[in-house]
Amino acid sequence: VNHLLGIKYLKKEDIALIFKTAKHFKEVINRPIKKVPSLRDVTIANLFFENSTRTRLSFELAEKRLSADVVNFSAASSSVKKGETLVDTVNNILAMKVDMVVMRHPNPGAGIFLSKQVDASIINAGDGAHEHPTQALLDAFSIQEELGDIAGKRVLIVGDILHSRVALSNIYALKKMGAEVMVCGPKTLIPKHLHKLGVKVETNLDKALAGCDVANMLRVQNERMDVNYFPSTKEYVKQYGLTKKRLEKLNKELVIMHPGPINRGVELSSELADSDQAIILDQVENGVAVRMAVIYLLAAKIKQL
Ligand code: CP
Repeated sequence: VNHLLGIKYLKKEDIALIFKTAKHFKEVINRPIKKVPSLRDVTIANLFFENSTRTRLSFELAEKRLSADVVNFSAASSSVKKGETLVDTVNNILAMKVDMVVMRHPNPGAGIFLSKQVDASIINAGDGAHEHPTQALLDAFSIQEELGDIAGKRVLIVGDILHSRVALSNIYALKKMGAEVMVCGPKTLIPKHLHKLGVKVETNLDKALAGCDVANMLRVQNERMDVNYFPSTKEYVKQYGLTKKRLEKLNKELVIMHPGPINRGVELSSELADSDQAIILDQVENGVAVRMAVIYLLAAKIKQL
């Protein structure tokens, strides 16, 4: 298929090929001339129906490093505000000879829906609380870079699992690569079906931290909550905030990750976010190379490169 709609639909070998290609592109973008001419005849539209800093800029840079032509669309300043539908919007953009669409959308399944309605290659850049496949790929790539083979590594995902597309895509990716995955957070923010995905669940953060090699700290997504899922931010910080004091009790080195944006002082202290243990900016750096790999591999299929 010529889309990346979710990690659920990828095989382990697909992920391994993306990582191999991303490793090559990481070398390329660290050279004095960061660009390659590979996608000179490919045009990509970045459609953002929801706010983004990292994903939007990372896709745009990845596309430009591959020499693709790029157009950017933000729903907030578009004719969507006049009532134009998603399919009409995309078909109008495609009429301008666009080959590939990168889309972030607040509705779960928006990319899957679009892929059945329009004639273009679709990359999901985050669809509501469903999946964020390129984030999971860059997270897993960063773990592999830091710790070697992912198989057997114990990865803990902490916080608002219920509303997190990052958590679901990470679970799919890490399980496919052979990692042990545990989630930790308030019971109200952990979906009940996770055991079906082979994920361990722990509500006590100190116990969870004792049994992991990597802790991926998620943001509490207040914008996706219609009710309060825990008593107060102060209580959340006390039970689920990662601080130096909490880590010192463990007496071991953990790799700390965060997909961004960080709520500093809530899920993660500034001291740890800015420490050598955190690979947060490495994740961002790797995001460009991983997205170059995804775009290149999809474009190679549609253009028979
Ligand atoms: N990690 C991530 O998706 O960040 P943005 O929302 O800024 O793109």
